[in-house]
This record gives sequence, C-alpha cells and structure tokens, in this order.
Amino acid sequence: MQSEQFLYLIKYNSNETQLCRLETKLLFNQELEGNHFFSDIEFEPDHSAFIKKRVEILIASSDYDELLLLIKSKKIHVEGFKLEYIKLKGDDIEYRPRLDKLRDIGYIISGEPDYYHPTITYALFYQSGVYYFGKSVRDDAEWQQHNNKPCSFSNSLSMNTAKTLVNIASFGDKSKRLIDTCCGVGTVMLEGCYGGYTIEGCDINIKSYHHTLKNLDHYGYKAEVYHSDIKDLDQQYDAAIIDLPYNLYSASTDEIMENIIASASKIAKRLVIVSIADIKEVIDKYGLKLVDFSTVDKVGKVKFTRNVWVCEK
Ligand SMILES: C[S@@+](CC[C@H](N)C(=O)[O-])C[C@H]1O[C@@H](n2cnc3c(N)ncnc32)[C@H](O)[C@@H]1O
Repeated sequence: MQSEQFLYLIKYNSNETQLCRLETKLLFNQELEGNHFFSDIEFEPDHSAFIKKRVEILIASSDYDELLLLIKSKKIHVEGFKLEYIKLKGDDIEYRPRLDKLRDIGYIISGEPDYYHPTITYALFYQSGVYYFGKSVRDDAEWQQHNNKPCSFSNSLSMNTAKTLVNIASFGDKSKRLIDTCCGVGTVMLEGCYGGYTIEGCDINIKSYHHTLKNLDHYGYKAEVYHSDIKDLDQQYDAAIIDLPYNLYSASTDEIMENIIASASKIAKRLVIVSIADIKEVIDKYGLKLVDFSTVDKVGKVKFTRNVWVCEK
C-alpha cells in the first residue's frame, strides 16, 4: 500500500520527455517512470505543464467493502460533488464494474452531484491490490490563456518550456527570487507570475522591453522589468533563467553569449541556460558547475533542439 499522501498524473509530448523528467526530479525528488507517481510533496497541477491531476489520498484499503465502510464513516456531505474513476496502468477493470463502483460510492456521499461544474471532485483508483479514495484536483488550464498574449514572437519559448524552466530554476519554492535575463516578450515571466513567483525581467532591446510590459499588463501581473543590458543589473537573485539570443532573429555572437553568461553568474547563484549551441566550454570557463542537463525539441515549421543547462556557482 502506498503511504504517500498524493498521486500525480503526468502527460507530456515525446519532444518534452527529458524536460518532464528533469522537472519531476527537481520538484519531487524522484525519477519519472510511466505516467503517474506518488509523493508527499503538495504541488499545484496548474503550476506545471505536465501535471494533469493530483489526488489527495484520504482512504485506502485492500478490501473494497472495508473501503466503502471507511468512506461511510466520514459522513461526507457535499452539494455539487463529482466522482471519477482514475484507471491507472495495470488496472484492467472494465467499464461496467467501474460504473458500479462509482454508484456504490456516489450513494454514500450525501448531497446533489454536479458533473459539469463540481464544487469538489472525488476520485477512486486501484493499484496493486489496493483501492484508494481521495480528492482530485486537475490542471484547469487557465494559464493556456497566455497563448493569446498581445505580443508574441515566432521563436519565443513554448509556454510548456517556459513553465518548466521556472520550476527547474526554483525547485518549486515560491520564496526564491528569479530573474529572466533576456526576457524577449516575457514568456517565462508570464508563467513565473502565474505560479506566484517573484520574477523580474530584463532585455536590452527596447521593443522587447515594451512587449513584455504589455503582456504582463494584459494579464494584470505586476513585475519589475528592466530595459537594460544584463551586465548593468546589480541586484542578487536565487536563480537566473537565460534564454540566450540565437542567430535566427536576434544577432548573437560568441562574445555576446559569453558576456550574458558571465554577467548572470555575478547576480545569481543558479543559472538555467537555454541555448541552441553547445556551451559546455563557456560554462567551464566561468567556473560554473553543470548540475543538470536536458534537451527539448521545438516542433513546427522550424525544427530545432534547445539545450537546457542547469548550472550552479
Ligand atoms: C531568444 S530571445 C528571448 C526570448 C524569450 N525567452 C521569449 O520567449 O520571448 C533573447 C533575448 O535576449 C535579448 N538580449 C540580448 N543581449 C542581451 C543582453 N546583453 N542583456 C539583456 N538582454 C539581451 C534580446 O534582445 C532578445 O530579446
């Protein structure tokens, strides 16, 4: 029987496998295998691009009748509840018996159910001979509204990547102070603000600076943005997220890239660097320790791979 408090359901595209694995390792301290895992760490599903659902386990029993008695003993009364069966890998229950089980439990909970606009969702799932009952919370995908930001740029990071970079930089710790050193149109900042992080942004380009301000304002987010070369910032941050300029649309030379990394390493203890090129030599040159690495493929008209280098001083 699982002793952890939460079940997490994960979904990711094949081009994001490595990124999802890295996020799971840093947020939950575990290796991702398959599409679900158990943890005692509580994390909001909509603060990750990959967590689709979290179930807080309230009752578990290997005896189904005992599970029903235990649910009954809780005397649950909720108006507008919903009940769902989550079929995990390895659970080969058919549709009918699944419905029967939902009916059993539905009759125990008092109050009118509401399938479409539930006030609370309960979940039943089965794994390795044990039935689990709990409260389920799903990613309501509200953050997907960032897709309609007023200013965008064809080579911006995807929202999924941006969201994951924030988690990789912060370990999911909301008290960390973050800086997006080359914020472009603010894709990373939007995800940071949505997640409740303290995140600031910087861009040398005046148009990008204004685009970031406009995007943040559109969603009512308040965050500091600097129109500046990153080398001129003098505050200290727990982590910097650096989406390096690349030659596709922004002029980038090795010297520019090195200056950005060198400047960021002066203001942040932890650096999450996104690059198209192999920058291992530069990381070594500035005395940074490479602690994690991942790639993420951009799919679409222009296909290329981004490298994510996680470094510490
Ligand atoms: C790849 S883009 C970032 C895109 C951004 N992550 C997004 O999703 O919109 C790189 C950005 O770095 C900015 N940049 C280049 N050199 C810089 C510097 N020295 N300091 C701050 N920003 C710089 C460029 O103006 C450009 O907007």
